[in-house]
Amino acid sequence: MRIITAKNYEDMSRKAANIISAQIIMNPKCVLGLATGSTPMGAYKQLVDWYNKDDLDFSMVRTVNLDEYKGLDANHEQSYRHFMDSHLFSHVNMNPDHVNIPNGIAADSRLECQRYDDVIAGLGGIDLQVLGIGLNGHIAFNEPDIAFEKKTHLVTLTQSTIAANSRLFNDISEVPTSAYTMGIKNIVQAKMILLIVSGEEKADIMYEAFCGPVTPAVPASILQMHNQVIIVGDAAALAKLSINTTI
Ligand code: F6R
Repeated sequence: MRIITAKNYEDMSRKAANIISAQIIMNPKCVLGLATGSTPMGAYKQLVDWYNKDDLDFSMVRTVNLDEYKGLDANHEQSYRHFMDSHLFSHVNMNPDHVNIPNGIAADSRLECQRYDDVIAGLGGIDLQVLGIGLNGHIAFNEPDIAFEKKTHLVTLTQSTIAANSRLFNDISEVPTSAYTMGIKNIVQAKMILLIVSGEEKADIMYEAFCGPVTPAVPASILQMHNQVIIVGDAAALAKLSINTTI
């Protein structure tokens, strides 16, 4: 596991974008697993900037996003599809046919989960998976649980996740209570994982996830078992990791 400490959010974003762009340059047809949320926004902005300078070509890149709210269609302002369009896809030369995100308004949830697993398998798996981490240790929408869910599934969001995500909605009552998410196996089967993390409020969970036991009670802890993980975090988020040299 490599841990790269950045000075601040901007530095973290540029360092993360460097790793993503290296992947695209080395393998223009790569499969990128992408996350939404506040953490990767700066990295996506940096990628758009490099695209505008003619340094990146997304035309053959394929993407699979980690998750999507159930009940929101692609045009809903808070859907993850809309987030990806507005922060990355619509600013670069992504082929829309190469973009994959769970369909929040699929009629049959079970079939949608199966379809999404088939999409990932059909792409030959994920080359580089970008992840954020929730305050309770969730990755994608895999919430703390008594077992690791393996495949794409529908989850009931915890109150802490609903509360954290409500900042983007007019009112907490508008936050969907369930979401589609890749499972833990989908994630750990990625060849390489890039976990981006920022802010002092994530320092405790980073310590638990990477210095504590591997447990579904802290879903991100499973990443200790993956041998191609790069953590890029700002100093505040990594403050408690840097005192532990055993990772
Ligand atoms: C988003 C996702 C979530 C976020 C996590 C952290 O696609 O999968 O697991 O990565 O909730 O969110 P931020 O970055 O907003 O702190």
